[in-house]
Order: sequence, then C-alpha cells, then structure tokens
Amino acid sequence: MSKYAIGIDIGGTGIKGGLVDLKSGELVGERIRIETPTGGEPDAIANAVVKVLTQLPQTDPQTPVGICFPAVVKHGVTMSAANVSKAWIGLDAEKLFTQKLNRKVHIVNDADAAGVAEMKFGAGKKKRGLVIMTTLGTGIGTALFIKGILVPNAELGHLEIGGVDYETKAAYSAKENEDLTMVEWAQRLQIYYSNLERLFTPDLFIVGGGISKHHEKFLPLLRLNTEIVPATKRNNAGILGAAVLAHKTKTDE
Ligand code: BGC
Repeated sequence: MSKYAIGIDIGGTGIKGGLVDLKSGELVGERIRIETPTGGEPDAIANAVVKVLTQLPQTDPQTPVGICFPAVVKHGVTMSAANVSKAWIGLDAEKLFTQKLNRKVHIVNDADAAGVAEMKFGAGKKKRGLVIMTTLGTGIGTALFIKGILVPNAELGHLEIGGVDYETKAAYSAKENEDLTMVEWAQRLQIYYSNLERLFTPDLFIVGGGISKHHEKFLPLLRLNTEIVPATKRNNAGILGAAVLAHKTKTDE
C-alpha cells in the first residue's frame, strides 16, 4: 500500500489539494488552491476538483483520494448543507466525484478530516481521553475523538444556545459580519466552549480554522476548566486528514 494519498479540501471560498506523505504528515510538492465556483453547485465543484487534481503531482491511479466537505457525510452521501448549496442534501457525492475524477474517492466531513490531521500529526498527537476539535470559520465544525478514535459527524457547531444556532454567533464569520472586536467575539466563544464543557467534560479542546493563527489574541481571554490549544496544521489540516482517512478506508477494504 502506497505511503502517499491525495487530500482535497472543499471550502466555501477555496478548494485546496495536496499530495500527502502519510508518514510525516507533510505535503509533497506544492499545495494547489483554486476559487470555489460561485453558487457551490455540485457539478461546478466537481469540475473544479478535477482541475485541482490535474495540477497535483501525477501519481499512480491506485493512490487513495480523500475529499473533505462542509457537511454531514454518511456512506458517501452529503446529508446537510449549512453554508453551501442545498443541492448537496441527499446527494451521492462519492459517486459524483468518482465519475468525474474517474477514480475512487472517499468523502468525509471537513472538521472530521481536520481533527484526524491534528490527532495524528498536530496538537492532539498522543492525546487520549475525549478530545473535541473545533474549527472556527464560515461555520463551526467539530470532531469528537475518544482514545484517538473519531466519532464521525458531530455537528456541535449547531448547538442551540439561548434559542439560536450558535454557529451564527460564534463562528469567525460572525465576528467579521458584525464587526466584533476580539474581546466581544471572545465573550461569545466563552459561552460556546463553556456549553461544550458542561455537556461533555472533555480532556482537551483544539481550535482550528484560519483565525487560529492568531490564537494568542483570543484563547487567553477564555476561562475554562478544560485545556484549550490552537491547531498546528491549520490550512493544511483538511487536506492531510482527508488523505489519511482515504488511505485508511482503502486499507480496511
Ligand atoms: C457544517 C459542518 C461543517 C462546519 C465547518 C457547519 O456549518 O454543518 O458540517 O463541518 O460548518 O465547515
């Protein structure tokens, strides 16, 4: 079995891909990024993914391909669409991508992929107990790990607090859209993480998403009993985790 796999991370603004060395967790060659087509319709996205794949270092067709996507993904079917086109709901995305790319792909939730990357290569390495990965971006993505094992599709970004879907309040996009200061945003993060803590009593929170690069501006403002640390794989986490999961699925077959 190859020691490489391809990871592709589909997001609201960009589609990123890379060839991953599964042992080191490093990218082999350049990371490729193209804009997500406006509207985010399935066919347009699949065509964009083909473009990304053709720009990556060419590999043997047996090299596993993992794709991560911002939705619940069950047996290759995208089951939700919080910040993407509703056309994805109930779509057999694995089949669509497999046909377009003309090779087998494995599709997973984006936060699950990012979490897997952090647990294997980053901030969660060797961490046991209950770890909750959170990604703060357009939405809030979450991934649960117990003793290092992923419990897939935890959608804790949509935790309802005070009658609202709290990702609309505490995602990084809420800070941007409402022009919140770091302190104001951190007050909302405090509410969010306190609720997660109350419900799960985790051993560790990992905070990812692009803004985690500036973690020193908001993480020290939070008062929690649980250790909370920034992700270390940041922008590459989705690519790495999707590649790892695709490789694992192929090996388990
Ligand atoms: C979606 C999740 C996704 C997260 C981050 C949420 O709105 O429901 O599936 O992981 O955004 O993209």
